Amino acid sequence: MTAAAPGPKTNMGQPVPRYDAAAKVTGRATYASDMPLDNPAYAFLVTSAIAKGRIDRFDLDDARRVRGVIEIVTHENAPKLKESKLFSNGGYAGTTIQPLKSAEIAHDGQIIAVVVAESYEAAREAANRVKVSYSAAAPSATFDSPGTTTAAAKGQSSQFKEDPKVGDFAKAFDAAEVKLVASYETPTQHHNPMELFTTSCAWMGDNLVIYEGSQYVYGLKNGVAEQLGIDADKVRVVNPYVGGGFGSRGSMTPRTAIIAAIAKHVNRPIKLVPTRDQGFTITTHRAETRHEIKLGASRDGKLVALRHEGAEVSSRSDAYCVGGTKTTTRLYACPNVDSLVSIVRADRNTPGFMRSPPEVPYLFALESALDELAVKLNMDPVELRRINDATRDPIDGKPYTSRSLMACFDEAAKAFGWSQRSPQSKSMSDGDWLIGYGCAATCYPTLMAPSAARVRLHRDGRTRVEIAGHEIGTGAYTVIAQTAAERLGVPLEKVAVFMGDSDLPPAPVAGGSNSTASTCSAVMMVCDQIRQRLLKAVMPSDSLADKAKETVGISPAPSTQAGKGDRPLEIEKAFDALGVGVVEEYGEWKPDGAPMDSFRAMHNGQVRLVGGHQMKDQIAYAFGAEFVEVRINRFTHEIRCPRLVGAFAAGRIMNPRTARSQLMGGLIWGMSSALLEATEIDERNARYVNDNLADYLVPVNADVPGVEVIMLSEQDDHINPVGAKGLGELGNVGTNAAICNAIYHATGQRIRKLPVRLENIEL
Ligand code: MOS
Repeated sequence: MTAAAPGPKTNMGQPVPRYDAAAKVTGRATYASDMPLDNPAYAFLVTSAIAKGRIDRFDLDDARRVRGVIEIVTHENAPKLKESKLFSNGGYAGTTIQPLKSAEIAHDGQIIAVVVAESYEAAREAANRVKVSYSAAAPSATFDSPGTTTAAAKGQSSQFKEDPKVGDFAKAFDAAEVKLVASYETPTQHHNPMELFTTSCAWMGDNLVIYEGSQYVYGLKNGVAEQLGIDADKVRVVNPYVGGGFGSRGSMTPRTAIIAAIAKHVNRPIKLVPTRDQGFTITTHRAETRHEIKLGASRDGKLVALRHEGAEVSSRSDAYCVGGTKTTTRLYACPNVDSLVSIVRADRNTPGFMRSPPEVPYLFALESALDELAVKLNMDPVELRRINDATRDPIDGKPYTSRSLMACFDEAAKAFGWSQRSPQSKSMSDGDWLIGYGCAATCYPTLMAPSAARVRLHRDGRTRVEIAGHEIGTGAYTVIAQTAAERLGVPLEKVAVFMGDSDLPPAPVAGGSNSTASTCSAVMMVCDQIRQRLLKAVMPSDSLADKAKETVGISPAPSTQAGKGDRPLEIEKAFDALGVGVVEEYGEWKPDGAPMDSFRAMHNGQVRLVGGHQMKDQIAYAFGAEFVEVRINRFTHEIRCPRLVGAFAAGRIMNPRTARSQLMGGLIWGMSSALLEATEIDERNARYVNDNLADYLVPVNADVPGVEVIMLSEQDDHINPVGAKGLGELGNVGTNAAICNAIYHATGQRIRKLPVRLENIEL
């Protein structure tokens, strides 16, 4: 075993290599824009150069003169589309701002025209020649800009139902022996997956095929059908591989239905490959946030009062909000809690999900504040968390299904060498470098959603799994194949998995870290249906009840996990008894507590996520602890992060290799969100400035010399049949706070606004 493939501990699957590894490294993996189209036309977008106002006039003469131009579509001749509600309000869309509908401009970079031509180059050239006259108004860009409006999130968005509170915060805070009041700020960020936001649309008569990288093929299929006003059965979305999601492909963006409608209009398949900078405004992003944390504690460190007030920027049209107070008010035991989330409306495109949407900004505030409180109390920050560790949800009083927060702190502290830290700030150095050690907690709700699956077993053990799940780079193919192999007792190499196609049985959005728990639970259930059928064929019915729980082993049956039985079923005999060539089963699984309409919603491309704090009698979260070392050059103020150590507990780890990759990527992104990433906004024009991968800083290998991922054994029998808590978004929560806590330790300077750059360090 290597670091990349850690050996499994208790309650972990095998670290098998990725199912899609060879296809990806040899270039055989086909992404949406690799799909061959028959005689395609190419589209290029024209986007708005103002953020607010209206289009007075287009001058298209120059553009039309470009050889090969087929059509130029603006609001004056665009096909009419129906509206779709916001994803978080029960619809499919990431924004309700519908481009090409009128002359009005809602944000900078809005799609205002689509040029269709015989080649990409001709479309681009013509797009560059489109002349637009605007009547521009002064836009409101962000926090503090004149003209923004602010209102409580509650009541504006069905996504945000309640500001959590309990006890009497004001009284308890007044009386607290030790108090902390601090404000924090996080910047706009863009997810920038490697695969651009491409869309190809091809009609065959009344049937539409869409090739587009999506985290939710059923959502996109139903959303586009709704916008086009056609039956969802006429639409198929295909994307066997997705070049990164991070939330950017979870909901439908306006481009897809537009391209589909234009393809119908010009009677040609159309391929759209937007540019990287267009991706900054035609999809979603992580909104900038502000926070005020108030903590009251007794001298011995017990929290007596906690208040978290958050504010997030959204568009004029949509009350998108992440509202992370649902998590920050529940992480530590505290009898008096208050919270309030507000939404600030500006002339911007609607923000959306970005990896760990609520937790990344909100835990930055809370976990920074905890560290500040530890300093005030003259207490080790790990001990402060131990004193306030919770066994129950502090708001609702429900017990955690399992909670390994302090076990994670202890494991990570040991691996990191936390005991070597001298507690005083500015007390550690190495030559020209000031050294700081910092830590923070992470947590992420355990979410699940209904999912279907179809499994076909041949008598020689060949197995085909069909499920409209998504491989966004996480290892979904791999863990689904492992699940089927284990449940059926067939060799892994005999299992073929088909995903990323809305003609397959529905699976939920690959978001909220629910995919593994949901899809693997469905696959497991359907494999069990196959076992039942085979067992029924060869066993007397009175022994069925017991035997059904056992492995159906197919020679040579190297099953590692499934059940307790080790007596292989005589598979060929069962097939003969059934008189069939293959056994195929379809099934629909739903988690406990899923609402009545879950399966109907699942087929309609609407997700009913359950879990987290919304379970009936319990609360389910995955936890972790992160420790970082920073080094700050005392002359240049350069900030380096030589070591990141994280320990995580997330129920059953399906595959330690793919899980480690997720957690490692998370840690790196968490560091990046503290030190590198920010979308800069030109406030005069409400425009993103660094909308490219050269100026939008992301880490490279030299920025992360040491990353260590520790996975703890944790068994949780209360969450779902596979016992897995989602971990795709766990690793990048809290790391930003750990970095700032380490910077404080190194320098004595508390930085409460991200990102931290060398010019922010004052020595
Ligand atoms: Mo993730 S931001 O829930 O796709």
